Amino acid sequence: MLEQLGLPIVTMDEPAIRAATEPVARRGGIHNSGYERQSRDFYATPSRVTEALLKHVKFRGPVWEPCCGDGAMSTVLSAHGHEVVSTDIADRGFGTPGVDFLACREVPGNCRSIVTNPPYGDTGSPTGQSKSSVAMLDFLQHAMTLTESIQGQLALLVRLQWIAGKRAAQTMSAGPFSAVIVLTKRIQWFDLGDQTKTAQHHHAWVVFDHTHPTGQPPAMLFV
Ligand SMILES: C[S@@+](CC[C@H](N)C(=O)[O-])C[C@H]1O[C@@H](n2cnc3c(N)ncnc32)[C@H](O)[C@@H]1O
Repeated sequence: MLEQLGLPIVTMDEPAIRAATEPVARRGGIHNSGYERQSRDFYATPSRVTEALLKHVKFRGPVWEPCCGDGAMSTVLSAHGHEVVSTDIADRGFGTPGVDFLACREVPGNCRSIVTNPPYGDTGSPTGQSKSSVAMLDFLQHAMTLTESIQGQLALLVRLQWIAGKRAAQTMSAGPFSAVIVLTKRIQWFDLGDQTKTAQHHHAWVVFDHTHPTGQPPAMLFV
C-alpha cells in the first residue's frame, strides 16, 4: 500500500502503530480546559475551517493530508473535487496508518500540495517531537522542504499566537509565505454539551506557495 502511494519510507510495524494510536493521559488536559489530552494530539477539525481555506486558496494537483486523523479535512478536500492522499502515524480508521510524516523524504505519488492540521505537541514520532512550539517549527520546516522539491503549496492550521513567536516568524518569512487566513471564530474542538468550555485559542491557516513571487508579502485575510 505504501509503495502504491509512492512513499519510500520507514513503515511502522503493528506495535508501533498501536503505540502511536493509544491515548496519552495527561493531568489537566489540553491547556487546562478540562479535556483529557487526546491520543497523539488528535483533534478533528470542524469542516467550516477547511471550507474557509478552500474559499481563498486554489490548490494545484492532488493534495496530501499527512496527519489525516479520522479524515475530517480529507473528506472536505475530496468533496471539493481534490484527489487526496491521506496518511497518519496512528490508526484512526481512515487513510493509511503507520506513516510518520517526519520520516517521509518525498511527497507521495503526484501530490502537489500538503494540507493539514498538524499535531501541536508530543506525537510519539521516533524522530522526536516534544514542546509544541518546537514541534510545530520542525513540522513546518520539514513540510517546507518537501513542498519545495515539487514547487508545491503548503497550508497548515496553527494557533494564531504561534505565528508571533520569533523563530516561527523568521522561518515563515524565509519561506514562500503567500497568505495568512485568520479564523475570527474560535474553534470548538469538542462538544461536551453543558460542560463545553469556551475555546482559548484563535487559529489561522498559514499558506506557502513555492511559486509565490520573491519579495511579495503574504496576503492577510479574515474569515
Ligand atoms: C490535530 S490532529 C488533526 C487530524 C486531522 N488533520 C484533522 O484536522 O481533523 C493531528 C493528527 O496528527 C497525527 N500525527 C501526529 N504525529 C504525526 C506524525 N509524526 N506523522 C503523521 N501523523 C502524525 C495524529 O495521529 C493526529 O491524528
